[in-house]
Amino acid sequence: MKDLVCVRVPATTANMGPGFDCLGMALDVWNSVRVESRRGPLRIEVIGEGAGEVPDDATNLVYRGFSLLFEGAGESPPDVRITCDNRIPLGRGLGSSSAAAVAGLVAANEMRGDQLSRLELLEIAARLEGHPDNAAPALFGGCRIVARDESGELLSAPVPVPDDLMAVLFVPDVAMPTNEARAVLPSEVPRSDAVYNISRAALLVRAFATGDLAHLDVATGDRLHQPARQAIFYPMRNIFRAARDAGALGVFLSGAGSSVLALTRGREYTIGYEMADIAAKSGVGGSIKVTRPTTKGAQVEKSA
Ligand code: HSE
Repeated sequence: MKDLVCVRVPATTANMGPGFDCLGMALDVWNSVRVESRRGPLRIEVIGEGAGEVPDDATNLVYRGFSLLFEGAGESPPDVRITCDNRIPLGRGLGSSSAAAVAGLVAANEMRGDQLSRLELLEIAARLEGHPDNAAPALFGGCRIVARDESGELLSAPVPVPDDLMAVLFVPDVAMPTNEARAVLPSEVPRSDAVYNISRAALLVRAFATGDLAHLDVATGDRLHQPARQAIFYPMRNIFRAARDAGALGVFLSGAGSSVLALTRGREYTIGYEMADIAAKSGVGGSIKVTRPTTKGAQVEKSA
């Protein structure tokens, strides 16, 4: 068994507008996690995002992913020391929880000789953290569709992403916990809203697959979750409008929020500035991150 494994895992944006709970994409913002087996009590150190905020005991999601993989194989997890260098903001709809669970799972899998496939890891991550639309791009990279077949098995398929697509994030200072942002959603939707979303999800996948982004603005529309979430994040629509007016090709709430993601092929800083400016006028502070989709998923960087 390996004694030292370092992994890095990307941020992810789930839903992408119409693909509620079934589309997600990896972003070029990374958490790095070092897991070292060492006799003694569990030690977890977090630097960067979430330092002093995330638990440093056995309830830590990196450790839960790590220990779950060993337990699933009928083994006790080894004593470890875990160091997390986090760049993914917490509670902002950028997949920080999935990234943590995936980091622990990938590190444990590497320690045990890489016995499980990424799809098997996805199933475990989904059971642990509940959001395969984040976990799939975190594991595989790129843009991913997730679905469950009739027997309940998870499957995940890639969607090509145009090379020159950029992502501009407005990351509010305030978090939006996913459980609260799900609690506001209606459990049933009118057929017209379902049709609205199906048409846009199809357009979005086609736009990405062909690189023809002419309909991206329509394609990122949604009626299944964003309108209800607007009620707990009232500047959302104005931020969307500001991004579009500044030249964004499409804009949506990232995951369950609170970040807003604008897709573009240029004018990144203008779009970011305009989103932050309109949010500030509504009393919501935040920061701008200019990034891009990444085709890379969780990676083992060091293993010894
Ligand atoms: N699809 C999930 C939601 C996001 O919108 O609640 C998971 O981060």
